[in-house]
Amino acid sequence: MSEQAQVTGVVTTRPLSDALGAEVRGVDLRNLSAEQNQKILDAWHENLVVLIRNQTLSEEDQVRFGKLFGGGALSSGHIPALERVEGLVYVTNVKQPDRPDGILPDGEMQFHSDQCYRDHPSKGTMLYAIEIPSEGGNTLFANTYKSYEALPEAVKQKIEGLRALNVYDYGVNPTRCGQPNADAPSHVHPVVRTHPVTRRKSLFVNRLMTARIEGMPKEESDALLDYLFAYQERPEFIYSHRWQVGDVLIWDNRCALHARTDFDSKQRRVMRRITLPAEAVE
Ligand code: SIN
Repeated sequence: MSEQAQVTGVVTTRPLSDALGAEVRGVDLRNLSAEQNQKILDAWHENLVVLIRNQTLSEEDQVRFGKLFGGGALSSGHIPALERVEGLVYVTNVKQPDRPDGILPDGEMQFHSDQCYRDHPSKGTMLYAIEIPSEGGNTLFANTYKSYEALPEAVKQKIEGLRALNVYDYGVNPTRCGQPNADAPSHVHPVVRTHPVTRRKSLFVNRLMTARIEGMPKEESDALLDYLFAYQERPEFIYSHRWQVGDVLIWDNRCALHARTDFDSKQRRVMRRITLPAEAVE
């Protein structure tokens, strides 16, 4: 990784890791020019995850910035009562009378892509850090272009055209327990996905929500999925983000998975999340 920042006009970018990610510097997200906005979009498409530090955003500021990523309405995919502002929810273990309860309050989360259980999943997600624990609660990102590209040719040929069932049932990890809950939201998507902007191929399965490969005996499907998950989770494809208050991170759900490390549930963690608009899967 080159440590040298790449200068792009008044905006600079700096790589976050060899796996993925760039920090964009020199912007105030409350007041972006069209040119700065385009630079953020370009950095996002190129680096999969964009970090912008030291921001102070109201709920409305965050939604306005989310809309610059294009597409239709913002929708968290969670119960509408939690969305006081369009598409915006809190990811938090802190209850406050002046705001709706949060989602995903505590603990570790396995790698996943947001809304992969939907027909049209969200193309990306934005988290804004308001309060963070003194240790842990890092968000991890895995580059699924790189894990696809690293697969042996024979495996790439084997998985081309395969489709997998993705299920939203965090209580029962389908890849461990075998039988996904029949009532849980679910959708079948291609195992190898093509990004609509970059046209690069990525591995669109994940340990948290992918239950099985369609049309394959269970044992074979479990073995193939375990093999693909192990590729996705190789350390060289992963960036671990240690949060600072004021951080804004936007990740691309089409080519990056994310996970969370554990943290002390007695400590406060308050993040604000926007889920970017949905898109068909190629
Ligand atoms: C999520 O999966 O959206 C939560 C990520 C986090 O809390 O770091």
